[in-house]
Amino acid sequence: MMTSLLNQTVLVIGGSSGLGLATARAAAGSGARVPIASRDDRRRLPAVASIGHDATGRPVDITDDRSVQEFFATGETWDHVVVSAAATRIGPIATMPPADAYDAVNSKFWGAVRVARHAPIRAGGSLTLVAGYLATRPAPGRALQSAINAALEGLTRGLALELKPVRVNAVSPGTIDTPLWQSMPDADRAAMFERVAAALPAGRIGQPEDIAGQIVLFMATPFATGTVVTIDGGASIA
Ligand SMILES: NC(=O)c1ccc[n+]([C@@H]2O[C@H](COP(=O)([O-])OP(=O)(O)OC[C@H]3O[C@@H](n4cnc5c(N)ncnc54)[C@H](OP(=O)(O)O)[C@@H]3O)[C@@H](O)[C@H]2O)c1
Repeated sequence: MMTSLLNQTVLVIGGSSGLGLATARAAAGSGARVPIASRDDRRRLPAVASIGHDATGRPVDITDDRSVQEFFATGETWDHVVVSAAATRIGPIATMPPADAYDAVNSKFWGAVRVARHAPIRAGGSLTLVAGYLATRPAPGRALQSAINAALEGLTRGLALELKPVRVNAVSPGTIDTPLWQSMPDADRAAMFERVAAALPAGRIGQPEDIAGQIVLFMATPFATGTVVTIDGGASIA
């Protein structure tokens, strides 16, 4: 059975870009009230405008425990919270500066923990985390991402027991065309996307909407909890 998101409040942390923005749009399109949260006003304000449907936005930094605590100190109880916020660096463990590796874990893993700890979510509502297919499909130069994503998948299952009756799920995306890849030179990024697409059973790179659809499904499915869904174009089986 699926329930409606009409008039439900869906908070998307990391909703100013990529998977979070697509999720915010999908939830707003399903009738939800959608506040988004992120660090940078210059990204968040245009994102709010582009979502429409009376979306709103507020600042938060998930690497800062006080910021997360203050964000949730309004007395509001949320129907659904999504954490797609993260800023992580990619590279081999052997050459990555330890401070960068620490920052990556602090952002993506501990950021999710901070939100889980402080977010007041109603009984039967949901928390959705975003991990990544590298959790189970490692690749050279991506060991840190594998570790962070595997930790998030384990966190999801554990939190589903600790936070019940709040439901906790995670999606593990494959390679998705989002601004996350914008730091690569355009030609390199296009070549990488082409290479990855050619190797995937799905025959293409993922789009943010491919992941947003699953996140909305988690929110609207009262029986879904402790679930990790990988949507990677078949990367895990290729
Ligand atoms: N794209 C992919 O191929 C892919 C694949 C697998 C997994 N993932 C995972 O999916 C998640 C979302 O990725 P994306 O591709 O949507 O990335 P994105 O387009 O770069 O968006 C990241 C979002 O997180 C926010 N953010 C970053 N650090 C934050 C912080 N400390 N506090 C609050 N907000 C913060 C950013 O806004 P501000 O900069 O304004 O704070 C932005 O809204 C990440 O965990 C990523 O690892 C992505």
